[in-house]
Amino acid sequence: MTGPICLHANIATMQKNQGSYGLIEKGCVVINEDKIVWVGPHHELPAEYIGVTQKHYSDRLITPALIDCHTHLVYGGDRAAEFEMRLEGASYEEVARAGGGIVSTVKATRAASEEELLDGALKRLDMLLADGVGTIEVKSGYGLDLKNELAMLRVARRLEKERPVHVRTTFLGAHALTPEYSNRADDYIDYVCNEILPAAVSEGLVDAVDGFCEGIGFSRKQIEKVFNAAAGLNLPVKLHAEQLSNLNGAALVAERRGLSADHLEYLDQSGVDAMAKNGTVAVLLPGAFYTLHETRMPPVAALLEAGVPIAIATDCNPGSSPLFSLVLAMNMACTLFRLTPELALAGVTLNAARALGLEEGRGTIAAGQPADLAIWDVKMPAELSYGIGHRPLHARIHGGVLV
Ligand code: NIG
Ligand code: FE
Repeated sequence: MTGPICLHANIATMQKNQGSYGLIEKGCVVINEDKIVWVGPHHELPAEYIGVTQKHYSDRLITPALIDCHTHLVYGGDRAAEFEMRLEGASYEEVARAGGGIVSTVKATRAASEEELLDGALKRLDMLLADGVGTIEVKSGYGLDLKNELAMLRVARRLEKERPVHVRTTFLGAHALTPEYSNRADDYIDYVCNEILPAAVSEGLVDAVDGFCEGIGFSRKQIEKVFNAAAGLNLPVKLHAEQLSNLNGAALVAERRGLSADHLEYLDQSGVDAMAKNGTVAVLLPGAFYTLHETRMPPVAALLEAGVPIAIATDCNPGSSPLFSLVLAMNMACTLFRLTPELALAGVTLNAARALGLEEGRGTIAAGQPADLAIWDVKMPAELSYGIGHRPLHARIHGGVLV
């Protein structure tokens, strides 16, 4: 790129204390190389940027590129048969206990080569990128042994080389118990803590550590062990918590100053308070709520009242959330969870950045931030959440480059 470029449009900066959406109508954002260098109303454009290349997007809207902060993008196979079973009346837990569910995806993932895993993940990634996503978190958790967990994480890291996207990887060894370890969950947790996680970390493949705290997952005690191992390796933690029942997982991850507690349909007030006290983000996953016919709502009002930041993600996975659109997740968060469109956009920008432990200011349009932007064929930000199944992206800028 040659010198600064000034983009003219309506701009949802998502900067705090700047009014609704930090919106600047008829604004300018100036990018230079891979950074944002200025943003403001066009009539305040500094003289030094008046002579540079100008691009007019007239009535279009520019937002920060979206951040999908909870996905299981890398996996083998699919679970369409399970979808049919559940529609005939089986619950997600019943399918899991009958050896389907996560464990069936583990089988298919282990049977796939790294190239096959990469091809499948790229197809799904392309759908998310076409929706304005510029940063994605990808979890392991369908390998569940040393060889296959590392393979998943390697594939996740390769996505960044194959496409214009930032990738954060999360180790989810404590996702489910495979048949090799049936009735030996504690032994499996020791294997995760003493062998798989250290090996993944020594290959530089782990940005954070996650677990599934649930009746069909792991107990608080077992998750505590995983968190101790993460702390020993200086890694931040997050947790699938209170999805199907209340095991007080959110309080557990909050007390460890964890980045996020995710799902949260069964969260109670003590969990909300622990999250508020420790700055732990609530990641809400409307795709899983919808797919599992959940009727219990996450306590959105209590979270907002307590000042807990809320993020929204696809939870893209073959079982509980085969959802390939973050813009649709925003719509679902509004309609199913009654978030405002402004909260939904904050949930896929600045609050999603925070759920990933990114630097302060990520997920906003501000001088000094990376030039990762989404340009939309809409005038005003509420339109993004309003459509169902629309594809409003006009273009995306990644590291200052139009993609
Ligand atoms: O976020 N809850 C556990 N893990 C995933 C589901 C994974 C699966 O069903 O394959 C989730 O919903
Ligand atoms: Fe998940």
